[in-house]
Amino acid sequence: MVRLLEANKISKQFCLDGQETVEVLTEISLTANTGEFISILGRSGSGKTTLLKCLSSLLEPSSGTVLLADKNPYRLSDARLSKLRREQIGFIFQHYNLLAALPVFENIILPLKLSGKKVRKEEVKMVLDDMHFKADLAAPIATLSGGEQQKVAIARTILAGNPIIFADEPTGALDSPSQNVIFEKLKDLADQGRCIVMVTHDMALAAQTDRALILQDGQIQFELKQPTGDQLYQILK
Ligand SMILES: Nc1ncnc2c1ncn2[C@@H]1O[C@H](COP(=O)(O)OP(=O)(O)OP(=O)(O)O)[C@@H](O)[C@H]1O
Ligand SMILES: [Mg+2]
Repeated sequence: MVRLLEANKISKQFCLDGQETVEVLTEISLTANTGEFISILGRSGSGKTTLLKCLSSLLEPSSGTVLLADKNPYRLSDARLSKLRREQIGFIFQHYNLLAALPVFENIILPLKLSGKKVRKEEVKMVLDDMHFKADLAAPIATLSGGEQQKVAIARTILAGNPIIFADEPTGALDSPSQNVIFEKLKDLADQGRCIVMVTHDMALAAQTDRALILQDGQIQFELKQPTGDQLYQILK
């Protein structure tokens, strides 16, 4: 088991109008290792997305430190930060983050090309078929449904092979069959040794993760190992 993520007392304040500041996160500490699937829950506005961004190199905390694969992303040069993201981190967002004008295949291989990895079309097809992806590899992204777009985003992350995956409500906008396919894929990735940190509102999905962190008032109020749906419901109802 290897420590992939370590956050130490991270706080985040936003400046509202030049004078007033609001503190969204207060001294949050957490760690995550290879093979762990962690879910982050909390009411709307509790700071889940802000926390995920701070953990994943996208938003510098106001104080505290973050280590990703032993590196503090906020102390790296632009070139080294790009390398860290390319090699270590996968991002899956609610709104897919794909390039709308490019076809499916190009979207999937873009990050691989950037890191000099070769991918065969057969391999891409296999990963997509496995998720019951029906569209053509040459189809422009903009012509796909939300569920299909999210499958493309997941396929890209699977093939890129990065060990730490951050997902912000990856199944939030999808119908229930697509939700299940995508969640099962994320679970497979954790079983294969990757580390998944997922924000979700879905208690049934969170109940299938290894650890649930519940955010409230800027802090992790509850940390449940092998959470059950009942426990989550009692806290979040
Ligand atoms: N750039 C910003 N400037 C000012 N306030 C912000 C900024 N980003 C987030 N906030 C505030 O921080 C709080 C937490 O927002 P965040 O998006 O992290 O919540 P969330 O838990 O992800 O909510 P949701 O479940 O609706 O996605 C909110 O009150 C939000 O308005
Ligand atoms: Mg959010």
